[in-house]
Amino acid sequence: MARRLIRRVAAEDLRKDLSGKTYIVTGSNSGVGLETTRQLITQGAHVVMAVRRPEAAQEAATGFEGLRGSYSIENVDVSDLASVRDFTERIRAQHPRLDGLVCNAGGVMFGSEAKYSKDGLEMTMAVNFFGHFLMTELLLDLLTKTKGSRWLIVSSVVHAGSPKNRPQVHLEDLAHKERSYNGFSAYADAKVAGVLYAQELAERVGAKGPFTASVHPGWARSNFGSGGNAMIRAAMALMRPFTRTMSDSNEDSAQTSLHVLLSDEALQYPGAYFSQSSVLYRDPGYRNGGWPTETPNPHARDMDVARELVRCSRDIVGL
Ligand SMILES: NC(=O)c1ccc[n+]([C@@H]2O[C@H](COP(=O)([O-])OP(=O)(O)OC[C@H]3O[C@@H](n4cnc5c(N)ncnc54)[C@H](OP(=O)(O)O)[C@@H]3O)[C@@H](O)[C@H]2O)c1
Repeated sequence: MARRLIRRVAAEDLRKDLSGKTYIVTGSNSGVGLETTRQLITQGAHVVMAVRRPEAAQEAATGFEGLRGSYSIENVDVSDLASVRDFTERIRAQHPRLDGLVCNAGGVMFGSEAKYSKDGLEMTMAVNFFGHFLMTELLLDLLTKTKGSRWLIVSSVVHAGSPKNRPQVHLEDLAHKERSYNGFSAYADAKVAGVLYAQELAERVGAKGPFTASVHPGWARSNFGSGGNAMIRAAMALMRPFTRTMSDSNEDSAQTSLHVLLSDEALQYPGAYFSQSSVLYRDPGYRNGGWPTETPNPHARDMDVARELVRCSRDIVGL
């Protein structure tokens, strides 16, 4: 079988000196977030590991010994708006600059029964979007005052759907209380929200604010699904031996986030969607991904929807 294209960060970008720079990576104790964190620390940065299980982050961080940069661990449950507010206050008190915010936490999917966050929001959307939305808005001035800062949200190929079935944000029911529930659709819809938000943010902050992007990381052999319900966990475990040849290492899956954080070329495309190659694209011509590429989902490019999503989300998170 022909080897699939894996897009990789340019060697010169991996040699850039990041000392003195501070990044936040959510969900950095595992998978794509852990490998993104490792590379930033390798290049001399300080990374705030924003995690819901500090003990897991501490264990993962034993692998950073001897690297040039440093890390600290901060507890945050991104599904809980109070926890996010508390986290941003701690960050603001401790860090005078923020060079990058990587909204990576996610990888949760539920079955046929919706789960709701403490704030009454559907859990997939709460983790993948609302928590990161609030975190970003509360740290936007810190990002804006840090020259050259960058922001990204990890979306997914599944936001693209297929020509016959495009996921979308449901502005009339963002908390997902009025519609029938399907865990996979909820996940895909939440990943559309990230693609839209990256574009809205780019439009709003312009050249004065952080560079923004959304990312499809690839099919990572991570702990994806482990935070979901028992059925999803069992399905993921069963599939793992069969998907090995189609999936990517976590290091390969961190390449797109790292490209967005490190490359000068990426800066030409504020708000854009950057994708690792993926066998899961259902639209012809998209499987090689692209840094950047246009999302095949027209709904995820609709700026009126993006602006309305942000307006509604401000109300929902209490901004
Ligand atoms: N794996 C893939 O093929 C794939 C494809 C497309 C997109 N993605 C996206 O890539 C990102 C990284 O996922 P991954 O594949 O690396 O999976 P992963 O290994 O499960 O990592 C997900 C991380 O998110 C954290 N997290 C989940 N819920 C959280 C919450 N409420 N508060 C704080 N942290 C939370 C997890 O913490 P715990 O360890 O405590 O659970 C973990 O650190 C996710 O946004 C995922 O949706 C993954």
